[in-house]
Amino acid sequence: MATAAAVTAEREFYQGGTPAGPSVLVLFGAAGDLTKRKLAPSIFNLAKAKLLPKDFAILGISVDDLSPEQFRTQLTEFLRDEDRGTDVYQWFTERLYYERGDFADPQTFARITQRLLDIDRDHHTQGNYLFYLATAPKFFAPIVQQLGKAGLSQQDDAHWRRVVIEKPFGHDLESAKSLNRDIKAVLQENQIFRIDHYLGKETVQNIMVFRFDNAIFEPIWNRRYVDNVQITNGETVGVEQRGGYFDTAGTLRDMVPNHIMQLLSLTTMESPASFRADSVRNEQAKVLRAVQPLDSEEVLQRSVRGQYGEGTEGTVQVPGYRKEPGVAPESRTETFVALKLNIDNWRWAGVPFYLRTGKRLAQRHTEIAIQFKETPFQLFRNALFHKPNTNTLVIQIQPVEGISLSFGAKIPGPVLRVGSVDMSFQYSKYFGAEAYTGYEVLLYDCMIGDATLFQRADMVEAGWSIVDPVLDVWRALPPRRFPNYAAGTWGPKEADELLAIDGRKWRNIEP
Ligand code: BG6
Repeated sequence: MATAAAVTAEREFYQGGTPAGPSVLVLFGAAGDLTKRKLAPSIFNLAKAKLLPKDFAILGISVDDLSPEQFRTQLTEFLRDEDRGTDVYQWFTERLYYERGDFADPQTFARITQRLLDIDRDHHTQGNYLFYLATAPKFFAPIVQQLGKAGLSQQDDAHWRRVVIEKPFGHDLESAKSLNRDIKAVLQENQIFRIDHYLGKETVQNIMVFRFDNAIFEPIWNRRYVDNVQITNGETVGVEQRGGYFDTAGTLRDMVPNHIMQLLSLTTMESPASFRADSVRNEQAKVLRAVQPLDSEEVLQRSVRGQYGEGTEGTVQVPGYRKEPGVAPESRTETFVALKLNIDNWRWAGVPFYLRTGKRLAQRHTEIAIQFKETPFQLFRNALFHKPNTNTLVIQIQPVEGISLSFGAKIPGPVLRVGSVDMSFQYSKYFGAEAYTGYEVLLYDCMIGDATLFQRADMVEAGWSIVDPVLDVWRALPPRRFPNYAAGTWGPKEADELLAIDGRKWRNIEP
Protein backbone atom coordinates (compact mmCIF):
# COMPACT_ATOMS: atom_id res chain seq x y z
CA MET A 1 0.00 0.00 0.00
CA ALA A 2 1.39 3.41 -0.93
CA THR A 3 1.98 5.99 1.77
CA ALA A 4 -0.32 9.01 1.98
CA ALA A 5 2.53 11.25 0.82
CA ALA A 6 3.15 9.07 -2.21
CA VAL A 7 -0.52 9.13 -3.10
CA THR A 8 -0.65 12.93 -2.79
CA ALA A 9 2.43 13.26 -4.97
CA GLU A 10 0.92 10.96 -7.59
CA ARG A 11 -2.32 12.92 -7.59
CA GLU A 12 -0.63 16.27 -7.95
CA PHE A 13 1.31 14.90 -10.84
CA TYR A 14 -1.88 13.53 -12.33
CA GLN A 15 -3.61 16.87 -12.09
CA GLY A 16 -0.95 18.82 -13.95
CA GLY A 17 -1.36 19.86 -17.58
CA THR A 18 -1.43 22.92 -19.74
CA PRO A 19 -4.73 24.65 -20.52
CA ALA A 20 -6.00 24.17 -24.05
CA GLY A 21 -5.82 27.16 -26.40
CA PRO A 22 -8.71 29.63 -27.00
CA SER A 23 -11.85 28.09 -28.50
CA VAL A 24 -15.63 27.92 -28.62
CA LEU A 25 -17.37 24.63 -27.95
CA VAL A 26 -20.47 24.50 -30.14
CA LEU A 27 -22.85 21.88 -28.80
CA PHE A 28 -25.46 20.54 -31.19
CA GLY A 29 -28.07 18.72 -29.13
CA ALA A 30 -27.49 21.10 -26.24
CA ALA A 31 -30.82 20.32 -24.57
CA GLY A 32 -30.26 16.55 -24.77
CA ASP A 33 -29.44 13.96 -22.21
CA LEU A 34 -25.78 13.51 -23.10
CA THR A 35 -25.12 17.22 -22.76
CA LYS A 36 -26.76 17.39 -19.35
CA ARG A 37 -25.43 14.14 -17.91
CA LYS A 38 -21.90 13.97 -19.29
CA LEU A 39 -20.74 16.98 -21.27
CA ALA A 40 -21.70 19.80 -18.92
CA PRO A 41 -20.16 18.10 -15.84
CA SER A 42 -17.01 17.29 -17.83
CA ILE A 43 -16.57 20.86 -18.98
CA PHE A 44 -17.07 22.01 -15.42
CA ASN A 45 -14.49 19.50 -14.19
CA LEU A 46 -12.03 20.69 -16.82
CA ALA A 47 -12.60 24.24 -15.66
CA LYS A 48 -11.93 23.17 -12.05
CA ALA A 49 -8.76 21.38 -13.15
CA LYS A 50 -7.66 24.61 -14.92
CA LEU A 51 -7.41 22.83 -18.24
CA LEU A 52 -9.74 25.16 -20.11
CA PRO A 53 -8.39 28.31 -21.72
CA LYS A 54 -9.37 31.62 -20.19
CA ASP A 55 -10.64 32.59 -23.66
CA PHE A 56 -13.45 30.09 -23.90
CA ALA A 57 -17.21 29.92 -24.44
CA ILE A 58 -19.96 27.40 -25.07
CA LEU A 59 -22.65 27.90 -27.67
CA GLY A 60 -25.53 25.44 -27.29
CA ILE A 61 -27.81 24.70 -30.25
CA SER A 62 -31.05 22.75 -30.18
CA VAL A 63 -34.61 22.91 -31.45
CA ASP A 64 -35.98 23.63 -27.99
CA ASP A 65 -37.20 27.12 -27.33
CA LEU A 66 -35.05 28.03 -24.35
CA SER A 67 -34.22 31.41 -22.91
CA PRO A 68 -30.54 31.96 -22.04
CA GLU A 69 -31.57 31.63 -18.40
CA GLN A 70 -33.33 28.29 -18.97
CA PHE A 71 -30.30 26.98 -20.85
CA ARG A 72 -28.02 27.99 -18.00
CA THR A 73 -30.31 26.25 -15.52
CA GLN A 74 -30.30 23.05 -17.59
CA LEU A 75 -26.56 23.07 -18.00
CA THR A 76 -25.92 23.52 -14.31
CA GLU A 77 -28.51 21.05 -13.02
CA PHE A 78 -25.80 18.52 -12.19
CA LEU A 79 -23.94 20.85 -9.81
CA ARG A 80 -23.69 20.16 -6.14
CA ASP A 81 -24.57 22.98 -3.77
CA GLU A 82 -20.96 23.55 -2.78
CA ASP A 83 -20.05 24.22 -6.43
CA ARG A 84 -22.62 26.95 -6.87
CA GLY A 85 -21.43 30.46 -6.19
CA THR A 86 -17.76 29.49 -6.55
CA ASP A 87 -15.39 31.35 -8.87
CA VAL A 88 -15.46 28.44 -11.30
CA TYR A 89 -19.26 28.53 -11.34
CA GLN A 90 -19.19 32.23 -12.06
CA TRP A 91 -16.62 31.74 -14.80
CA PHE A 92 -18.57 28.84 -16.35
CA THR A 93 -21.98 30.51 -16.38
CA GLU A 94 -20.60 33.72 -17.91
CA ARG A 95 -19.59 31.73 -20.95
CA LEU A 96 -22.84 29.99 -21.84
CA TYR A 97 -24.76 31.02 -24.96
CA TYR A 98 -27.76 29.46 -26.63
CA GLU A 99 -29.23 29.50 -30.11
CA ARG A 100 -32.49 27.80 -31.05
CA GLY A 101 -32.43 26.20 -34.46
CA ASP A 102 -33.40 23.41 -36.78
CA PHE A 103 -30.30 21.42 -37.79
CA ALA A 104 -31.51 21.06 -41.37
CA ASP A 105 -32.19 24.76 -41.90
CA PRO A 106 -29.40 26.84 -43.53
CA GLN A 107 -30.71 29.87 -41.60
CA THR A 108 -29.65 28.19 -38.36
CA PHE A 109 -26.08 28.10 -39.61
CA ALA A 110 -26.20 31.71 -40.74
CA ARG A 111 -27.24 32.64 -37.19
CA ILE A 112 -24.55 30.40 -35.68
CA THR A 113 -21.93 32.12 -37.85
CA GLN A 114 -23.01 35.51 -36.57
CA ARG A 115 -23.13 34.33 -32.94
CA LEU A 116 -19.64 32.89 -33.26
CA LEU A 117 -18.28 36.17 -34.62
CA ASP A 118 -19.81 37.96 -31.63
CA ILE A 119 -18.37 35.40 -29.22
CA ASP A 120 -14.94 35.65 -30.85
CA ARG A 121 -15.08 39.40 -30.34
CA ASP A 122 -16.23 39.22 -26.70
CA HIS A 123 -14.14 36.24 -25.57
CA HIS A 124 -11.07 36.42 -27.85
CA THR A 125 -11.67 32.85 -28.99
CA GLN A 126 -9.83 33.51 -32.25
CA GLY A 127 -12.13 31.58 -34.59
CA ASN A 128 -11.23 28.15 -33.14
CA TYR A 129 -14.40 26.07 -33.04
CA LEU A 130 -15.08 22.60 -31.72
CA PHE A 131 -18.44 21.39 -33.03
CA TYR A 132 -19.80 18.58 -30.90
CA LEU A 133 -22.61 16.58 -32.52
CA ALA A 134 -24.49 15.23 -29.50
CA THR A 135 -27.52 14.60 -31.69
CA ALA A 136 -29.45 11.73 -33.19
CA PRO A 137 -27.25 10.02 -35.82
CA LYS A 138 -29.49 11.09 -38.71
CA PHE A 139 -28.24 14.65 -38.19
CA PHE A 140 -24.49 13.86 -38.34
CA ALA A 141 -24.04 14.16 -42.12
CA PRO A 142 -26.53 17.04 -42.63
CA ILE A 143 -24.91 19.14 -39.89
CA VAL A 144 -21.44 18.57 -41.32
CA GLN A 145 -22.72 19.51 -44.79
CA GLN A 146 -24.29 22.69 -43.46
CA LEU A 147 -21.10 23.58 -41.58
CA GLY A 148 -19.25 23.19 -44.87
CA LYS A 149 -21.73 25.34 -46.80
CA ALA A 150 -21.63 28.06 -44.16
CA GLY A 151 -17.82 28.11 -44.36
CA LEU A 152 -17.60 27.06 -40.71
CA SER A 153 -15.55 23.93 -41.36
CA GLN A 154 -12.67 25.68 -43.10
CA GLN A 155 -9.49 25.90 -41.08
CA ASP A 156 -6.23 27.59 -41.90
CA ASP A 157 -3.03 28.54 -40.14
CA ALA A 158 -4.86 31.16 -38.11
CA HIS A 159 -7.63 29.00 -36.67
CA TRP A 160 -8.80 25.40 -36.37
CA ARG A 161 -12.19 23.76 -36.84
CA ARG A 162 -12.94 20.28 -35.48
CA VAL A 163 -16.02 18.10 -35.34
CA VAL A 164 -16.79 15.50 -32.70
CA ILE A 165 -19.16 12.76 -33.81
CA GLU A 166 -20.95 10.64 -31.24
CA LYS A 167 -21.92 7.03 -31.69
CA PRO A 168 -23.57 5.14 -33.28
CA PHE A 169 -21.37 5.69 -36.31
CA GLY A 170 -23.52 3.92 -38.90
CA HIS A 171 -25.70 0.87 -38.36
CA ASP A 172 -23.65 -1.52 -40.51
CA LEU A 173 -20.53 -1.47 -42.68
CA GLU A 174 -22.23 0.12 -45.67
CA SER A 175 -23.83 2.95 -43.72
CA ALA A 176 -20.59 3.61 -41.80
CA LYS A 177 -18.72 3.87 -45.11
CA SER A 178 -21.35 6.17 -46.50
CA LEU A 179 -21.21 8.40 -43.40
CA ASN A 180 -17.42 8.49 -43.67
CA ARG A 181 -17.75 9.52 -47.33
CA ASP A 182 -20.24 12.26 -46.52
CA ILE A 183 -18.26 13.84 -43.73
CA LYS A 184 -14.95 13.47 -45.53
CA ALA A 185 -16.41 15.39 -48.47
CA VAL A 186 -16.37 18.37 -46.11
CA LEU A 187 -13.68 17.64 -43.50
CA GLN A 188 -10.12 16.37 -43.45
CA GLU A 189 -9.58 13.24 -41.34
CA ASN A 190 -7.59 15.30 -38.82
CA GLN A 191 -10.67 17.46 -38.19
CA ILE A 192 -12.88 14.47 -37.34
CA PHE A 193 -13.06 13.12 -33.79
CA ARG A 194 -15.24 9.97 -33.71
CA ILE A 195 -15.86 9.50 -30.04
CA ASP A 196 -16.09 6.23 -28.16
CA HIS A 197 -16.57 7.01 -24.49
CA TYR A 198 -14.84 3.75 -23.49
CA LEU A 199 -11.57 5.40 -24.45
CA GLY A 200 -12.25 8.06 -21.83
CA LYS A 201 -12.15 5.45 -19.08
CA GLU A 202 -8.94 5.47 -17.07
CA THR A 203 -8.69 1.71 -17.01
CA VAL A 204 -9.10 1.47 -20.76
CA GLN A 205 -6.30 3.96 -21.34
CA ASN A 206 -4.29 2.07 -18.76
CA ILE A 207 -4.30 -1.08 -20.91
CA MET A 208 -1.66 0.51 -23.10
CA VAL A 209 0.37 1.76 -20.15
CA PHE A 210 0.18 -1.62 -18.48
CA ARG A 211 1.26 -3.47 -21.60
CA PHE A 212 3.85 -1.08 -22.98
CA ASP A 213 5.33 0.56 -19.90
CA ASN A 214 6.15 -2.74 -18.21
CA ALA A 215 8.66 -5.16 -19.63
CA ILE A 216 7.47 -8.25 -17.80
CA PHE A 217 4.10 -8.88 -19.44
CA GLU A 218 4.83 -8.51 -23.15
CA PRO A 219 6.98 -11.66 -23.42
CA ILE A 220 4.06 -13.81 -22.28
CA TRP A 221 1.33 -11.85 -24.06
CA ASN A 222 0.90 -14.25 -26.95
CA ARG A 223 -0.25 -17.65 -28.17
CA ARG A 224 2.61 -19.52 -26.48
CA TYR A 225 1.40 -18.57 -23.00
CA VAL A 226 -2.20 -17.39 -23.36
CA ASP A 227 -4.90 -20.03 -23.44
CA ASN A 228 -7.86 -17.74 -24.08
CA VAL A 229 -9.08 -14.21 -23.50
CA GLN A 230 -12.51 -13.34 -22.15
CA ILE A 231 -14.07 -9.92 -22.40
CA THR A 232 -17.19 -9.45 -20.32
CA ASN A 233 -19.38 -6.38 -20.25
CA GLY A 234 -22.34 -6.84 -17.95
CA GLU A 235 -24.97 -4.23 -17.27
CA THR A 236 -27.71 -4.68 -14.70
CA VAL A 237 -29.88 -1.94 -16.18
CA GLY A 238 -32.36 -2.61 -18.96
CA VAL A 239 -32.92 -0.23 -21.84
CA GLU A 240 -34.13 2.52 -19.50
CA GLN A 241 -35.71 5.38 -21.49
CA ARG A 242 -33.95 4.41 -24.72
CA GLY A 243 -36.27 1.61 -25.88
CA GLY A 244 -37.09 3.41 -29.13
CA TYR A 245 -33.47 3.66 -30.23
CA PHE A 246 -32.37 0.35 -28.77
CA ASP A 247 -35.10 -1.70 -30.38
CA THR A 248 -33.83 -0.68 -33.82
CA ALA A 249 -30.19 -1.27 -32.87
CA GLY A 250 -29.74 -4.21 -30.49
CA THR A 251 -26.72 -5.07 -28.39
CA LEU A 252 -24.53 -6.25 -31.25
CA ARG A 253 -24.62 -2.86 -32.98
CA ASP A 254 -24.80 -0.86 -29.76
CA MET A 255 -21.74 -2.33 -28.05
CA VAL A 256 -19.59 -4.56 -30.24
CA PRO A 257 -18.14 -2.66 -33.23
CA ASN A 258 -17.25 0.21 -30.92
CA HIS A 259 -16.69 -0.39 -27.19
CA ILE A 260 -15.90 -4.09 -27.27
CA MET A 261 -13.62 -3.70 -30.30
CA GLN A 262 -11.73 -0.94 -28.50
CA LEU A 263 -11.10 -3.29 -25.60
CA LEU A 264 -10.10 -6.08 -27.97
CA SER A 265 -7.76 -3.97 -30.08
CA LEU A 266 -5.98 -2.39 -27.11
CA THR A 267 -5.50 -5.83 -25.57
CA THR A 268 -4.15 -7.44 -28.72
CA MET A 269 -2.38 -4.75 -30.77
CA GLU A 270 1.36 -4.63 -31.32
CA SER A 271 3.35 -1.94 -29.56
CA PRO A 272 3.11 1.32 -31.50
CA ALA A 273 6.41 3.01 -32.35
CA SER A 274 5.27 6.19 -30.62
CA PHE A 275 2.30 7.50 -28.67
CA ARG A 276 1.24 9.69 -31.57
CA ALA A 277 -2.34 9.34 -32.76
CA ASP A 278 -1.67 7.63 -36.05
CA SER A 279 0.99 5.36 -34.68
CA VAL A 280 -1.42 4.00 -32.05
CA ARG A 281 -4.40 3.87 -34.38
CA ASN A 282 -2.44 2.10 -37.14
CA GLU A 283 -1.78 -0.75 -34.73
CA GLN A 284 -5.38 -0.88 -33.54
CA ALA A 285 -6.71 -0.90 -37.09
CA LYS A 286 -4.17 -3.56 -38.10
CA VAL A 287 -5.23 -6.01 -35.42
CA LEU A 288 -8.93 -5.40 -36.05
CA ARG A 289 -8.37 -6.22 -39.70
CA ALA A 290 -6.69 -9.46 -38.58
CA VAL A 291 -9.83 -10.68 -36.81
CA GLN A 292 -10.99 -13.68 -38.85
CA PRO A 293 -14.26 -12.85 -40.58
CA LEU A 294 -16.94 -15.41 -39.69
CA ASP A 295 -18.63 -17.26 -42.54
CA SER A 296 -22.31 -18.13 -42.24
CA GLU A 297 -21.66 -21.54 -40.72
CA GLU A 298 -19.27 -20.04 -38.17
CA VAL A 299 -21.81 -17.38 -37.24
CA LEU A 300 -24.14 -20.19 -36.24
CA GLN A 301 -21.47 -21.92 -34.20
CA ARG A 302 -19.68 -18.96 -32.69
CA SER A 303 -22.33 -16.37 -31.95
CA VAL A 304 -25.06 -16.36 -29.35
CA ARG A 305 -27.87 -13.84 -29.01
CA GLY A 306 -30.27 -13.39 -26.16
CA GLN A 307 -33.15 -11.26 -24.98
CA TYR A 308 -34.09 -10.83 -21.34
CA GLY A 309 -37.42 -11.87 -19.97
CA GLU A 310 -38.76 -10.75 -16.63
CA GLY A 311 -36.58 -11.29 -13.61
CA THR A 312 -34.77 -9.25 -11.02
CA GLU A 313 -32.38 -6.39 -10.62
CA GLY A 314 -30.88 -7.02 -7.22
CA THR A 315 -33.96 -7.74 -5.14
CA VAL A 316 -36.37 -5.77 -7.32
CA GLN A 317 -38.68 -7.56 -9.75
CA VAL A 318 -38.27 -6.12 -13.27
CA PRO A 319 -40.22 -6.62 -16.52
CA GLY A 320 -38.94 -8.39 -19.60
CA TYR A 321 -37.49 -6.46 -22.53
CA ARG A 322 -40.68 -6.70 -24.57
CA LYS A 323 -42.55 -4.81 -21.85
CA GLU A 324 -40.08 -1.90 -21.77
CA PRO A 325 -41.36 1.50 -22.98
CA GLY A 326 -40.69 2.04 -26.68
CA VAL A 327 -40.09 -1.66 -27.38
CA ALA A 328 -42.30 -3.69 -29.75
CA PRO A 329 -44.31 -6.37 -27.88
CA GLU A 330 -43.01 -9.11 -30.22
CA SER A 331 -39.53 -7.60 -30.53
CA ARG A 332 -36.75 -9.87 -31.76
CA THR A 333 -34.02 -7.45 -30.85
CA GLU A 334 -31.15 -8.94 -28.89
CA THR A 335 -30.11 -7.57 -25.52
CA PHE A 336 -27.23 -10.03 -25.11
CA VAL A 337 -24.44 -11.15 -27.41
CA ALA A 338 -21.62 -13.65 -27.01
CA LEU A 339 -19.03 -14.26 -29.71
CA LYS A 340 -15.98 -16.38 -30.20
CA LEU A 341 -13.41 -14.71 -32.43
CA ASN A 342 -9.92 -15.55 -33.61
CA ILE A 343 -7.13 -13.28 -34.72
CA ASP A 344 -5.07 -14.27 -37.73
CA ASN A 345 -1.57 -13.18 -36.85
CA TRP A 346 1.56 -14.74 -35.40
CA ARG A 347 0.92 -13.42 -31.92
CA TRP A 348 -2.63 -14.71 -31.54
CA ALA A 349 -3.27 -17.55 -34.01
CA GLY A 350 -5.26 -20.28 -32.27
CA VAL A 351 -6.16 -18.26 -29.17
CA PRO A 352 -9.94 -17.93 -28.79
CA PHE A 353 -11.34 -14.56 -27.80
CA TYR A 354 -14.69 -14.96 -26.05
CA LEU A 355 -16.73 -11.79 -25.82
CA ARG A 356 -20.02 -11.26 -24.03
CA THR A 357 -22.07 -8.16 -23.42
CA GLY A 358 -25.62 -7.66 -22.34
CA LYS A 359 -28.26 -5.78 -20.46
CA ARG A 360 -30.03 -6.96 -17.32
CA LEU A 361 -27.22 -9.33 -16.45
CA ALA A 362 -26.34 -10.53 -12.98
CA GLN A 363 -23.82 -7.78 -12.31
CA ARG A 364 -22.55 -4.48 -13.58
CA HIS A 365 -19.08 -5.59 -14.42
CA THR A 366 -16.66 -5.02 -17.28
CA GLU A 367 -13.37 -6.86 -17.46
CA ILE A 368 -10.79 -8.38 -19.74
CA ALA A 369 -9.49 -11.70 -18.45
CA ILE A 370 -6.32 -13.15 -19.93
CA GLN A 371 -6.19 -16.82 -19.00
CA PHE A 372 -2.74 -18.32 -19.23
CA LYS A 373 -1.95 -21.92 -20.09
CA GLU A 374 -1.55 -24.54 -17.42
CA THR A 375 1.85 -25.78 -16.31
CA PRO A 376 3.29 -28.45 -18.64
CA PHE A 377 2.49 -31.09 -16.02
CA GLN A 378 0.87 -31.03 -12.59
CA LEU A 379 3.63 -31.44 -10.05
CA PHE A 380 1.19 -31.13 -7.14
CA ARG A 381 -1.56 -33.36 -8.50
CA ASN A 382 -1.26 -35.74 -5.55
CA ALA A 383 -1.49 -33.02 -2.91
CA LEU A 384 -4.28 -33.49 -0.36
CA PHE A 385 -5.97 -30.54 -1.97
CA HIS A 386 -5.06 -29.09 -5.32
CA LYS A 387 -7.14 -26.46 -6.98
CA PRO A 388 -5.91 -26.64 -10.59
CA ASN A 389 -4.60 -23.18 -11.15
CA THR A 390 -5.00 -21.23 -14.33
CA ASN A 391 -3.10 -18.02 -13.93
CA THR A 392 -5.50 -15.28 -14.89
CA LEU A 393 -4.72 -11.65 -15.31
CA VAL A 394 -7.86 -9.57 -15.01
CA ILE A 395 -8.08 -5.98 -16.14
CA GLN A 396 -11.13 -4.63 -14.35
CA ILE A 397 -12.70 -1.75 -16.19
CA GLN A 398 -15.78 -1.05 -14.03
CA PRO A 399 -17.27 -0.59 -11.53
CA VAL A 400 -14.13 -1.65 -9.64
CA GLU A 401 -11.13 -0.36 -11.53
CA GLY A 402 -7.92 -2.28 -11.23
CA ILE A 403 -5.81 -5.23 -12.21
CA SER A 404 -5.41 -8.57 -10.52
CA LEU A 405 -3.37 -11.69 -11.13
CA SER A 406 -4.28 -15.04 -9.71
CA PHE A 407 -1.68 -17.69 -9.01
CA GLY A 408 -1.26 -20.93 -7.10
CA ALA A 409 -0.03 -20.82 -3.50
CA LYS A 410 0.65 -23.32 -0.77
CA ILE A 411 -2.11 -23.27 1.81
CA PRO A 412 -0.38 -23.00 5.23
CA GLY A 413 -0.22 -26.23 7.22
CA PRO A 414 1.81 -29.40 7.63
CA VAL A 415 -0.03 -31.22 4.84
CA LEU A 416 0.52 -30.10 1.26
CA ARG A 417 -2.48 -28.30 -0.11
CA VAL A 418 -2.41 -25.90 -3.04
CA GLY A 419 -4.92 -23.12 -3.56
CA SER A 420 -5.28 -20.03 -5.70
CA VAL A 421 -4.66 -16.47 -4.47
CA ASP A 422 -4.74 -12.99 -5.97
CA MET A 423 -2.34 -10.10 -6.28
CA SER A 424 -4.43 -7.08 -6.89
CA PHE A 425 -4.21 -3.37 -7.56
CA GLN A 426 -7.23 -1.09 -7.22
CA TYR A 427 -7.26 2.43 -8.53
CA SER A 428 -9.38 3.84 -5.73
CA LYS A 429 -7.09 2.45 -3.04
CA TYR A 430 -3.96 3.79 -4.66
CA PHE A 431 -5.08 7.02 -6.28
CA GLY A 432 -8.32 7.80 -4.42
CA ALA A 433 -11.72 8.07 -6.05
CA GLU A 434 -12.02 10.71 -8.77
CA ALA A 435 -15.44 12.08 -9.71
CA TYR A 436 -14.73 12.18 -13.42
CA THR A 437 -17.21 11.27 -16.15
CA GLY A 438 -14.59 10.03 -18.62
CA TYR A 439 -15.47 12.73 -21.15
CA GLU A 440 -12.99 15.22 -19.65
CA VAL A 441 -9.94 13.71 -21.30
CA LEU A 442 -11.80 13.32 -24.59
CA LEU A 443 -12.99 16.94 -24.69
CA TYR A 444 -9.58 18.20 -23.66
CA ASP A 445 -7.88 16.10 -26.33
CA CYS A 446 -10.21 17.51 -29.01
CA MET A 447 -9.31 21.01 -27.91
CA ILE A 448 -5.59 20.33 -28.12
CA GLY A 449 -6.02 18.38 -31.35
CA ASP A 450 -4.84 14.99 -30.09
CA ALA A 451 -6.81 12.23 -31.83
CA THR A 452 -5.09 9.26 -30.16
CA LEU A 453 -8.23 8.32 -28.24
CA PHE A 454 -10.59 8.70 -31.18
CA GLN A 455 -11.61 6.28 -33.85
CA ARG A 456 -10.25 6.74 -37.33
CA ALA A 457 -12.44 5.90 -40.34
CA ASP A 458 -10.62 2.62 -41.01
CA MET A 459 -11.02 1.48 -37.38
CA VAL A 460 -14.76 2.09 -37.46
CA GLU A 461 -15.06 0.20 -40.73
CA ALA A 462 -12.90 -2.67 -39.44
CA GLY A 463 -15.23 -2.96 -36.42
CA TRP A 464 -18.28 -3.14 -38.65
CA SER A 465 -16.59 -5.68 -40.93
CA ILE A 466 -16.39 -8.05 -37.96
CA VAL A 467 -20.01 -7.56 -37.01
CA ASP A 468 -21.61 -7.43 -40.48
CA PRO A 469 -21.59 -11.19 -41.23
CA VAL A 470 -23.29 -11.83 -37.89
CA LEU A 471 -25.94 -9.20 -38.61
CA ASP A 472 -26.59 -10.81 -42.01
CA VAL A 473 -27.10 -14.32 -40.65
CA TRP A 474 -29.19 -13.13 -37.72
CA ARG A 475 -31.40 -11.12 -40.06
CA ALA A 476 -31.92 -14.15 -42.29
CA LEU A 477 -32.67 -16.45 -39.35
CA PRO A 478 -34.79 -14.62 -36.79
CA PRO A 479 -34.49 -15.94 -33.23
CA ARG A 480 -37.12 -18.49 -32.31
CA ARG A 481 -36.91 -18.60 -28.54
CA PHE A 482 -36.84 -15.02 -27.33
CA PRO A 483 -36.85 -14.15 -24.46
CA ASN A 484 -34.22 -16.72 -23.54
CA TYR A 485 -32.71 -15.47 -20.30
CA ALA A 486 -34.18 -14.08 -17.13
CA ALA A 487 -33.23 -10.57 -16.06
CA GLY A 488 -30.57 -10.77 -13.37
CA THR A 489 -28.71 -13.82 -14.77
CA TRP A 490 -25.57 -14.15 -16.88
CA GLY A 491 -27.45 -14.62 -20.16
CA PRO A 492 -28.75 -17.62 -22.12
CA LYS A 493 -27.37 -21.11 -21.54
CA GLU A 494 -26.04 -21.12 -25.13
CA ALA A 495 -23.41 -18.62 -23.99
CA ASP A 496 -22.06 -21.22 -21.56
CA GLU A 497 -22.22 -23.88 -24.25
CA LEU A 498 -20.11 -21.70 -26.54
CA LEU A 499 -17.20 -22.25 -24.16
CA ALA A 500 -18.18 -25.70 -22.95
CA ILE A 501 -17.67 -27.10 -26.48
CA ASP A 502 -14.04 -25.95 -26.18
CA GLY A 503 -13.75 -27.44 -22.67
CA ARG A 504 -13.78 -24.00 -21.06
CA LYS A 505 -15.98 -21.89 -18.81
CA TRP A 506 -16.63 -18.19 -18.39
CA ARG A 507 -14.62 -16.86 -15.50
CA ASN A 508 -16.67 -16.84 -12.36
CA ILE A 509 -17.40 -13.22 -11.60
CA GLU A 510 -18.06 -12.85 -7.94
CA PRO A 511 -20.38 -10.18 -6.57
C1 BG6 B 1 -23.48 3.17 -24.69
C2 BG6 B 1 -24.59 2.26 -25.13
O1 BG6 B 1 -22.65 3.50 -25.77
O2 BG6 B 1 -22.72 2.51 -23.68
C3 BG6 B 1 -25.46 1.89 -23.96
O3 BG6 B 1 -25.36 2.90 -26.14
C4 BG6 B 1 -24.64 1.30 -22.85
O4 BG6 B 1 -26.49 1.00 -24.34
C5 BG6 B 1 -23.46 2.19 -22.53
O5 BG6 B 1 -25.46 1.15 -21.71
C6 BG6 B 1 -22.52 1.51 -21.56
O6 BG6 B 1 -21.59 2.44 -21.10
P1 BG6 B 1 -20.90 2.27 -19.69
O7 BG6 B 1 -19.88 3.37 -19.65
O8 BG6 B 1 -21.98 2.41 -18.67
O9 BG6 B 1 -20.30 0.90 -19.70
